[in-house]
Amino acid sequence: MTVTARIGVVTVSDRVSRGEYEDLSGPAVREYLLAHLLGEVEVVERVVADERDQIAALLVELVDTEGCCLVVTTGGTGPAPRDVTPEATAEVCDRLLPGFGERMRAVSWEKVPSALLSRQVAGLRGSGLILNLPGSPGAIRECLEAVLPAIPHGIALAGGPRLELDAPPKLPH
Ligand code: MTE
Repeated sequence: MTVTARIGVVTVSDRVSRGEYEDLSGPAVREYLLAHLLGEVEVVERVVADERDQIAALLVELVDTEGCCLVVTTGGTGPAPRDVTPEATAEVCDRLLPGFGERMRAVSWEKVPSALLSRQVAGLRGSGLILNLPGSPGAIRECLEAVLPAIPHGIALAGGPRLELDAPPKLPH
């Protein structure tokens, strides 16, 4: 029996949530994941304003109610006053996985020095992995490429379903 892996993609943006700006980031995350994950994958897409309580509630809903084994957020990771995605993520996670943020910042730094401004985190809520990405569409590929190889193993170790990648993990030495 094939198990469908449910994956949440959350665009965190005041302007997108008000309909003032087209969401380019959420679709970019969805396309990247669908291109690289094998097997049955169902993507649950949401948009939320930069409001800590709303983001936290949505993350809980996606993991606990929608049964997402992976939730990827995009946006709201910077130093601006309304950037609160990392706080909302940390609040709903049982344990943080600092290596994800460290790796994404390190890889991104090679391309754009402003990558250091992202406070992106990742963590586990039960066996669900929640991962923050910056909001810029350009950042999405760079960041996902840097950490995707570790995601299936992380979810499996936490007790979640087995995700399969299109290529064997190319973890750096
Ligand atoms: N990382 C990559 N790979 N590429 C980028 O263009 N933009 C940076 C940073 N990380 C960027 C990046 C900038 S300018 C900011 S302010 C922070 O991400 C936070 O972005 P966010 O608030 O949209 O999440």
